[in-house]
Amino acid sequence: MSETNARIRYEDWEHYAKKRLSKGAFGYVQSGSNQEQTLVKNREAFNDLELVPRVLKDVSNRDLSIKLLNQSLAVPFLLAPVGFQRIVHPDAERASAKSAQKAKVPYIMSTVSSTSIEEVSEIMRDVPHYFQLYWPNDQDVCESFVKRAEKSGFDAIVVTVDTPYLGHREVDLSNGYSPINTGAGIENFLTDPVFQEKYNPNHDLSEAELIDEIKSILFKQDLTWSNIRWLKKITDLPIILKGVMHVDDAKLAVEEGIDGLIVSNHGGRQLDGTQSALKALQTIRQEIGDDIPILVDGGVRGAPDVLKALAIGADAVLIGRPYTYALVDGEAGVDQVLNNFTKDLDTSLAILGVNQVKKIDTSVITNSVNR
Ligand code: FNR
Repeated sequence: MSETNARIRYEDWEHYAKKRLSKGAFGYVQSGSNQEQTLVKNREAFNDLELVPRVLKDVSNRDLSIKLLNQSLAVPFLLAPVGFQRIVHPDAERASAKSAQKAKVPYIMSTVSSTSIEEVSEIMRDVPHYFQLYWPNDQDVCESFVKRAEKSGFDAIVVTVDTPYLGHREVDLSNGYSPINTGAGIENFLTDPVFQEKYNPNHDLSEAELIDEIKSILFKQDLTWSNIRWLKKITDLPIILKGVMHVDDAKLAVEEGIDGLIVSNHGGRQLDGTQSALKALQTIRQEIGDDIPILVDGGVRGAPDVLKALAIGADAVLIGRPYTYALVDGEAGVDQVLNNFTKDLDTSLAILGVNQVKKIDTSVITNSVNR
């Protein structure tokens, strides 16, 4: 394939990214933790699940939109929070947000972005955008992030709850690679008045020193439900928990009045050896019914995967690596992936024999998820 041909397949983007990125950066994006069993299972679960199309249905007019948190979303997929995007392209999150805005694809911005909260919100405007919180181990900085997100126009806070520590990512350890050491992903800290006042009062720290300060508060290991209750008090924004896999945690979230869940094993990057995200979704949805919106991520590579996830009970899905690889070509690359995903979804929906994404239910699958 010549470099000028359109890249459509996920594998082609992955291959392209591998050629273009440093070994460390590519390994960081691609790999999972430990033996990558969970990473593989996320895909296998999608492969196992079977769609059954209906025929002779009028599918000449289609509607891809859904409702989530009282907002209309143009499509049932969102860009997952992917941190450190500057290791992939200098335009980083700015390029992803611009592309998402044009394609009307909702964007979840990572805490560890190289573009500030305010700038991303300004780019996204009326297209829904959520702020993903890696809860800093400093309550004042945490509160400042949340207030900035609220003030600048974000529509929800997504608290990632599966990361008290980073997973044991053997590829990164072998490569001696840590994305934050490149200076990527620190913009929200650098632009935060509370962080600056507390950790860099004289504005005299070098970048390396700042990175060390950021690392020292990046994850909070004693985060519990009481912190989530505090968060509910300090913000009016809906709160979504990302990284829930256990049905008992999902039940607690409902009891605590959480607004939504993202069933996720972090794309196989945190605890290895878990079941697939799709299987966890199936169990959780069966147990908790329709009490709460549930999103899922991990292994979604095309429209049929989106349809499968919706069929077993997801309200929407997130995609991570598919757009991250395309970001190698900046905004234009992400444009290609998002437009392709939307087009694929539109035609796959029609071929499934359904004309509204909202109408997808278990009747279009035959089996259940087994891994
Ligand atoms: C992630 N993910 C992630 N999650 C999160 O809550 N905050 C973050 O900053 C990041 N950063 C990040 C970087 C990279 C390079 C990857 C690949 C993933 C996890 C992400 O939100 C999502 O859960 C998975 O990427 C979904 O799986 P797929 O679509 O990549 O298979």
